[in-house]
Amino acid sequence: MYDTVKTLHSYWAYFVLLILIVAVVNAIIGFATNKKFVSKDLRISLFALIFTHLQLVIGLILYFVSPFGMSMISSRGMGGMSSAERLLALEHPFVGILAIILITIGWSKHKKQETDKRAFGKIATFYGLGLLLILSRLPWKVWLDL
Ligand code: HEM
Repeated sequence: MYDTVKTLHSYWAYFVLLILIVAVVNAIIGFATNKKFVSKDLRISLFALIFTHLQLVIGLILYFVSPFGMSMISSRGMGGMSSAERLLALEHPFVGILAIILITIGWSKHKKQETDKRAFGKIATFYGLGLLLILSRLPWKVWLDL
């Protein structure tokens, strides 16, 4: 169970990062060039939202089955973890959830905008911040050592 969920979370991360980068770049271009917000833009932003939400679900399951998630906190306590362990058990999950909340707010706000430029602006800002947060707290070393 643990290995399967961890492998899924690990590989799904490539798709999440890819679609988020595409959505942010697409929104920045749309904003900067005053493009119309068409169904392609809606689909890209929606896919990014769905992919990150799926990663959240997989991440939450992983948190409870991984020895580096919840069980690390209960066995070591907040103060007893090394910085690498704290990254896996606390910072990465917490910042990941925060990033997904921002992305969800961006999605919901973009729908309420009166101009296409403002809609692109909301996606660029909120998805962009979410992406930066995710990138800042990825366990890069563990991940790329696959
Ligand atoms: C927001 C998007 C997220 C991305 C792109 C992401 C990506 C990753 C990656 C690449 C790893 C390293 C996997 C490996 O060892 O190969 C990882 C580990 C982990 N993630 Fe996430 N994650 C995200 C969100 C979350 C969330 C929301 C949670 C929990 C609530 C979570 C929980 C974990 C845990 C517990 C590990 C350590 C797994 C272990 O080594 O046993 N992740 N994540």
